[in-house]
Amino acid sequence: MPAPRSDALALFGATGDLAHKKIFPALQALIKRGHLDAPVIGIARSPGNVETFRADIGESLEKSGRLDPAAFAKLSDLLGYVAGDYRAPATWAALRAALGKASRPLHYLAIPPSLFPTVVEGLGASRCAVGARVVVEKPFGRDLASARALNRTLHAVFDESAIFRIDHYLGKEAVQNLLYFRFANSFLEPIWNRNHVDHVQITMAESFDVQGRGRFYEEVGAIRDVVQNHMLQVVGFLAMEPPAGDGSEAVRNEQVKVFRSIRPLTSERVVRGQFRGYRNEDGVAPDSTVETFAAVEVEVDSWRWAGVPFYIRAGKALPMTTTEVIVELKRPPQDVFHERHLGHPNHLRFRLSPEVIIAAGARAKVPGESMTGEAVELSVRHQAPAEMQPYERLIGDAMGGDSTLFAREDAVEAAWAVVDPVLGSPTPLYPYERGSWGPVEADRIVKRHGGWHNPVPVTGVGR
Ligand code: BG6
Repeated sequence: MPAPRSDALALFGATGDLAHKKIFPALQALIKRGHLDAPVIGIARSPGNVETFRADIGESLEKSGRLDPAAFAKLSDLLGYVAGDYRAPATWAALRAALGKASRPLHYLAIPPSLFPTVVEGLGASRCAVGARVVVEKPFGRDLASARALNRTLHAVFDESAIFRIDHYLGKEAVQNLLYFRFANSFLEPIWNRNHVDHVQITMAESFDVQGRGRFYEEVGAIRDVVQNHMLQVVGFLAMEPPAGDGSEAVRNEQVKVFRSIRPLTSERVVRGQFRGYRNEDGVAPDSTVETFAAVEVEVDSWRWAGVPFYIRAGKALPMTTTEVIVELKRPPQDVFHERHLGHPNHLRFRLSPEVIIAAGARAKVPGESMTGEAVELSVRHQAPAEMQPYERLIGDAMGGDSTLFAREDAVEAAWAVVDPVLGSPTPLYPYERGSWGPVEADRIVKRHGGWHNPVPVTGVGR
């Protein structure tokens, strides 16, 4: 039986950056598809009322070119606003009143992590948590100990089944396609293991820098910001066993097994970098040792993957913005055509963004007298103009009580356990130029496997 839908959405941090950039467009899109008709109550410290809140949303959608007048008009009718300090009992009384008859509200915490305990306690004490669900934004803690503490705070008020921890990568069309492609086809399974896969590379490149978020970034760095969560989720989908049974827990059970089988990172398996100029950014310490780039080697110590390295590289101010996975297959056992220099001629390539591409790399004979070949790729590119954005999908799922695409307590903690030993600055930090592929020292990590595959702007694979 499907879980009952939430009958109100209470958005904490309703005037913040995330609300403007991601949540309002998602709410408008949900309305457009007919997936949202419950009241939406904004809560924030900024003084205001429902009219100013409505105007703020309208202006922000307009500015970003995403305003849909019809859907926005419907959204406007659903809005409410509560202004106040999260520590003041009056704020909670006002929220209780605004929720009216709603008996299954969804509380969305789009607020700084330091406020999570105050708001969760407030929800509990004001009885706004009765029958409710809660969505918690990343970062979920800043290491294993703080993630555990946050889980304890949440569990004091909410059951695990009512907690929805966001990792927006899980809501991405292309990331879901990894799962679909693996388990909706039969041809992959025989080769999807240590006998045929040589190694895996995942590159998350961003050509932009910290974009005025220096203060936030100083608290995190690349490993906390994207490796512990987004990148490990991708490893989880690539490496997991087929889900046993149906339901949201089936997939999540397999994901957590992958995270648990990954060995905690050691300093030899990590290279950290910082782009030149980062220290001049607003909010950044002049002697900051926070990494804006990280390359790591992850070892999934399972029957299927023992000995197959998963290389991850993520960074800001790189040459392009793209996320791509390359699964390199082993060389053929014999070099029948004496083309010794070819390295690994076969691969599967999954471009996760900005395009969605699945490609198989192979060698094919060049027409002519000699038995020599060339690298070719068979590729499928999905053009999905009306693609559902991750936040739309995830808010819709949380309202419907479907937790498949949310991180479970044990998975979040297992993922922190992987990166915990290398958090902070225990490893050297290497500078790199803006627009480069990170520090040259990162090559050390993949040296024995022939170097990194740098994504190229169209299709194809480049070194
Ligand atoms: C966020 C990180 O979680 O993910 C950002 O905080 C990063 O630093 C972003 O840029 C990337 O997400 P996307 O969807 O743009 O690939």
